[in-house]
Amino acid sequence: MPRTKFIAGNWKMFTTAQTGRELAAAVVKGCAGWAGVRVAVCPPFTYLNVVGEALRGSPVALGAQNVYPANEGAFTGEVSPTMIKDVGCRYVIVGHSERRHGLGETDPFINSKVHAALNAGLDPILCVGETSDQRKAGRTEAVLDGQLVGGLQGLNGGQAQRLTIAYEPVWAIGTGVNATPEQAQDAHAFIRRRCADLLGPETAANLTIQYGGSVKSDNAASILAQPDVDGALVGGASLKADSFLAIVRAAVA
Ligand code: PGA
Repeated sequence: MPRTKFIAGNWKMFTTAQTGRELAAAVVKGCAGWAGVRVAVCPPFTYLNVVGEALRGSPVALGAQNVYPANEGAFTGEVSPTMIKDVGCRYVIVGHSERRHGLGETDPFINSKVHAALNAGLDPILCVGETSDQRKAGRTEAVLDGQLVGGLQGLNGGQAQRLTIAYEPVWAIGTGVNATPEQAQDAHAFIRRRCADLLGPETAANLTIQYGGSVKSDNAASILAQPDVDGALVGGASLKADSFLAIVRAAVA
């Protein structure tokens, strides 16, 4: 069975209640009648409710951008997996580079989020990726390896069926410099090989691996055509319905 492509929009810290609702409605409208692709949008926490309303009854799924690894408690300012599930999310992004590098998230902490998300019935999207310096030093595979071993610790093959991995080279995020299709394919093939060791060959063969980092309507098709690229995690280009829908269209082409 070929893997179904999965396009997710990471809205980051953008939108308002009104622009979020409008954007979600436009994505729903644009996706009507399309089959053969999974689509999700991940608005800020504050707009999960309004965006969820706009998505209601549509095939476009809701995702959150982060989660705290406990279901409740004295964790001022944090949001739990059960809360995210309760508000209608299917997905949650975990270990985004802006959290790893900007907010100091470590692999063990990210691993606890993966487990907490799965235990609450959420499907985690685990982000991995090397910095520009790491790539230049020839350490891309070593970095990905460390993030996979650390992030997937203690996961069994059954749980991992609900996992998505997003390969997001840090140097490509928000820079306009996307990985070439060959660079993306090499990294994705490596990730799939390592996941075969860590989670079993069957889980790895079925695993959805998204590429993220300056995906736009004009480069999506060539990246998505790579055999181990199963979708995209889209930042900037997900904030306009037209550009996001063009990427979704490239995934079904
Ligand atoms: P970008 O962001 O598409 O704006 O590069 C991708 C991401 O950070 O998920």
